[in-house]
Amino acid sequence: MTILKLNPPKTNLHFSPPPPGQPLISVRNLEQTLSHHTILQGINLDILRGETLVLLGKSGCGKSVFLRHLIGLLKPKKGNIIFEGVDISNLSETQLAPVRKRIGIVFQDGALFDSLNVFDNVAFPLREREAINCPFKIQERVAEVLELVNMTGHEKKLPASLSGGMRKRVALARAIACPPDVLLYDEPTAGLDPIISDSINRLIRRLQERLGITSVVVTHDLASTRFIADRVALLHEGRIHFLGSVEDLFSSNDPIVYNFVNAKSTETDL
Ligand SMILES: Nc1ncnc2c1ncn2[C@@H]1O[C@H](COP(=O)(O)OP(=O)(O)OP(=O)(O)O)[C@@H](O)[C@H]1O
Ligand SMILES: [Mg+2]
Repeated sequence: MTILKLNPPKTNLHFSPPPPGQPLISVRNLEQTLSHHTILQGINLDILRGETLVLLGKSGCGKSVFLRHLIGLLKPKKGNIIFEGVDISNLSETQLAPVRKRIGIVFQDGALFDSLNVFDNVAFPLREREAINCPFKIQERVAEVLELVNMTGHEKKLPASLSGGMRKRVALARAIACPPDVLLYDEPTAGLDPIISDSINRLIRRLQERLGITSVVVTHDLASTRFIADRVALLHEGRIHFLGSVEDLFSSNDPIVYNFVNAKSTETDL
């Protein structure tokens, strides 16, 4: 079992846990249309400082599209994304750069640099942000985060030679190499075996508890939801249909929530 140290590197980045319970990100009336299809139809959601918010929803309902707005990779068609009181919806790439340093994202497919080996992928943010200058310290930090995701010993491999689950774990290691204030996870446990999934869930929890990281986790995994979520949101037909605690989710009588939780398909799903 990995021993969690999670010592943040000594950098000028912001690591002190923010006061819990206040909105860190506020999403207001977010609408998005892609290829003439309306995907998001007016999302209103506050992401509170220090919480782990799980976002559920059927495949193709717009979860990944939503997540991309939070880090400015997609611009809203209408509406606003407010990060710490600043509207980031229409910032330029240059203006977004400091915000992106504070928000990490683990993409659904890992999105590793194909030409860099595992070590260099994970070291990339440390070098790019000059968070750590000493090569020995970089080595130490990379070893620490790779150990956390059970990827020790794979440092020299290229992404093409890794399984999907291994790529995802390297992406997670890269995202936490410089611990951000907010971590967005797109399906962090999909395609992973139950033991690795469990260790990733525990890691998400520990990152919150030890570093006060605010997390938004997109998942289909209800067992994982039970374990990590402070609050759960269900995206349905472009809107937040449900927002509440895990207990509220599993005891809800609302037909859409009930069917989702109990995995009942309806004719319109087919
Ligand atoms: N860049 C794009 N251009 C056009 N359509 C897109 C684009 N990205 C996503 N879409 C469409 O938007 C819809 C929502 O996609 P999204 O990837 O957000 O779904 P999802 O809820 O994350 O699904 P899954 O659970 O399968 O990952 C889909 O119909 C998808 O085809
Ligand atoms: Mg997705």
